[in-house]
Amino acid sequence: MNILQINASARIQGANSTRLADSIVARLQSNKPDGRLKLRDLARSPHPVLDEAALGALFTPAEQHTPEQASRVALDDTLIAEVQAADVLVLGVPMYNFGVPVQLKNWIDAIARAGVTFRYTENGPEGLLKGKKVYVALARGGRHRNTPADSQVPFLKTVLGFLGMSDVHFIYAEGLSMGPEAAEQGFAEAEAELDAAFA
Ligand SMILES: Cc1cc2nc3c(=O)[nH]c(=O)nc-3n(C[C@H](O)[C@H](O)[C@H](O)COP(=O)(O)O)c2cc1C
Repeated sequence: MNILQINASARIQGANSTRLADSIVARLQSNKPDGRLKLRDLARSPHPVLDEAALGALFTPAEQHTPEQASRVALDDTLIAEVQAADVLVLGVPMYNFGVPVQLKNWIDAIARAGVTFRYTENGPEGLLKGKKVYVALARGGRHRNTPADSQVPFLKTVLGFLGMSDVHFIYAEGLSMGPEAAEQGFAEAEAELDAAFA
């Protein structure tokens, strides 16, 4: 089993979403001790934004790439190869201003590539990243689960599903900025959900 852990917090140390993602990975590895882990920490290794130069590189045939364009496309290629190789993905996702961190968006923009990770057919779009299980470790200061304020879960369900990853399990650690007791409760609820998911 190949596990790919994506840490999307802007914090390298002390991130709540990373703590929850680590807990999920520990459970996966305890079930399958020979599971191999690939960690991509987007705070340590930020991925560049999809800007005009990147779009130009992506839409230029490889044989016409400048060295800069080839390097830019290669960065995305690396992220795509990591996802393709993974059986299980664990995403650590904080809520920032009611959305996903920009680094997670940059990662998504990198792995969504027409003809490689999705394609359009006569019957509509087809995701090509199939057969993978995804755990999303959500960390929030407030409590937004199942409310209109939670744009993260519908967005991630949609885009991961579009890429072929429809087996997605969301784990919520909420209320983490509402005082120590609420934070403790938020983590306890998340761990209880994991107990059930891994029972
Ligand atoms: C810049 C910033 C924006 C935030 N925006 C929200 C928000 O919109 N809603 C919310 O519930 N919590 C918000 N929070 C609180 C974080 O979601 C919470 O601290 C979470 O633990 C961050 O995850 P991390 O520790 O993995 O970085 C925000 C925190 C920061 C630093």
